[in-house]
Amino acid sequence: MSHVLAAVAWPYANGPRHIGHVSGFGVPSDVFSRYMRMSGHDVLMVSGTDEHGTPIQVQADAEGVTPRELADRYNRVIVEDLHGLGLSYDLFTRTTTRNHYSVVQELFKGLHDNGYIIAKTTLGAISPSTGRTLPDRYIEGTCPICGYGSARGDQCDNCGNQLDPEQLINPKSRINGEVPEFVETEHFFLDLPAFAEALGKWLDTRDDWRPNVLKFSKNLVEDLQPRAITRDLEWGVPIPLEGWEDRNDKRIYVWFDAVIGYLSASIEWARRSGDPEAWRKWWQDSDALGYYFMGKDNIVFHSVIWPSLLLGYSGEGDKGGKPGSLGALNLPTEVVSSEYLTMEGRKFSSSRKVVIYVRDFLERYDADALRYFIAAAGPESNDTDFTWAEFVRRNNDELVAGWGNLVNRSVSMAAKNFGAVPEAGELTEDDKALLDVARKGFDTVGELLGKHRQKAAIGEAMRVVAEANKYLSDQAPWKLKDEATKPRMGTVLHVALQVISDANTLLTPFLPHSAQKVFELLGGVGVHAPMPSIVEVEDLDGGPSYPVLTGDYTVGAKWDSVPLVAGTPLATPTPIFRKLDVSVIEEELERLAS
Ligand code: MF3
Ligand code: ZN
Repeated sequence: MSHVLAAVAWPYANGPRHIGHVSGFGVPSDVFSRYMRMSGHDVLMVSGTDEHGTPIQVQADAEGVTPRELADRYNRVIVEDLHGLGLSYDLFTRTTTRNHYSVVQELFKGLHDNGYIIAKTTLGAISPSTGRTLPDRYIEGTCPICGYGSARGDQCDNCGNQLDPEQLINPKSRINGEVPEFVETEHFFLDLPAFAEALGKWLDTRDDWRPNVLKFSKNLVEDLQPRAITRDLEWGVPIPLEGWEDRNDKRIYVWFDAVIGYLSASIEWARRSGDPEAWRKWWQDSDALGYYFMGKDNIVFHSVIWPSLLLGYSGEGDKGGKPGSLGALNLPTEVVSSEYLTMEGRKFSSSRKVVIYVRDFLERYDADALRYFIAAAGPESNDTDFTWAEFVRRNNDELVAGWGNLVNRSVSMAAKNFGAVPEAGELTEDDKALLDVARKGFDTVGELLGKHRQKAAIGEAMRVVAEANKYLSDQAPWKLKDEATKPRMGTVLHVALQVISDANTLLTPFLPHSAQKVFELLGGVGVHAPMPSIVEVEDLDGGPSYPVLTGDYTVGAKWDSVPLVAGTPLATPTPIFRKLDVSVIEEELERLAS
């Protein structure tokens, strides 16, 4: 049993989430956390909405509201999106809590005390027409490193390098096309080169990461430059140093504050649990594990910036130092990054309406249908495409015709002929072989899930389902209704139901909503797959109240076969999954086009 931190990327509170977002960070982190809990680990799964920085400021300006109003609105919307998908966060909070502010400031001060934060005068962009600071990501130009024509002032999406806006060749404002003016401004920088050696050593020990993530991270460490961690902005966490704290034109950079959210949310969770020190078991025990889930555009922040903050605060960079008042903190065990999901061959884009939002999806389809698609066909280690045709096909052929039908016909037949889980007589070789396939699934599927190979894992679970369907066709229990053969019918159905129960446990991390239903169809009582709830909480330090996602996940199924008890009453089942009419494909494509 280990303490396992599942640290899930924080969605920006600037709009509702679409299925591209949740295929990267959302569903994979939940599948992993559910599996780890079922196999006995003590999981702490945390995240929240990312509410500072220019993405929020710019969207708020566009809508004519304050950043706080915008963040309040989308924080609620996102909490509902994630709740609808059944994502089992121990705490999904936000970055505008007072707790978060104080943890961010504590890390800033610790890094500063240890000498890893340096003040520098730099050039900042302003818009000549408005006189206001022009945020980095709203400046566009040619990348000085790879020559890509639409690099942004903060990052080049082509080569993945982080940039400063004044490095861009031919910079232009993405808001109104004007050429920005660069003026002198004072900022704080994180001394990244001071961590190069420690980061390199750490990455050298990480050989079980996805190869592309490791290679990308190692490349980044080859060439580290000091990185600005403050911005000319009014919206964000104030800089906790004398002479800076009260200025309302300088704030901590959103990425510096957001990654610290993993720690602040763990502390908030502990404070709410009644044991304010409980977070330490996930952050300071030497055998605790920490997995970070995100899309690939977030890798640099999790394999370079966040580890550097942890090292510097712990006093473990080139300049040494001593741990801050929270104590030394663990580095990530693994940065688990997915690739991109596209939509009908195109990039998701809210502005160009190439999008389906989670809440619209869930109004028309079931959460598990989407979870199934993401697990079986999502962008685990390659970019993949979501198409409505493939969604309908997988739903109908695999979920409904494969799994749903196996459950349905077996439970109906047993209910009709026995009214209960039938007694098993002597087992044949075929019976034993099938039971064995299902039992072995706990090892094979479990091992794959532990290694973040969810596609292969769900494939193995569905292989058990396919074997069970074949067994039923071969044994044809519906032909065994005669008095003389009825005991054999009972044995076949007992075996089938036992394998269904096992397959259902194997599928539980992926399909928690339907797993609960299947469990109940088999006569189970109580919680099989625990679900998160939305709770309105008071800010712990006097700020405004807000909704969080949380839950009690100590209940529910374990990762093991549970013998069915003969005689448990069974009722005629209602279907678990909905077959979709193929007309759905045309309808959805029309919606996309309009
Ligand atoms: N808001 C960022 C994004 O959507 C992710 C932040 S993850 C963090 O890309 F926790 F590190 F902040
Ligand atoms: Zn580039």
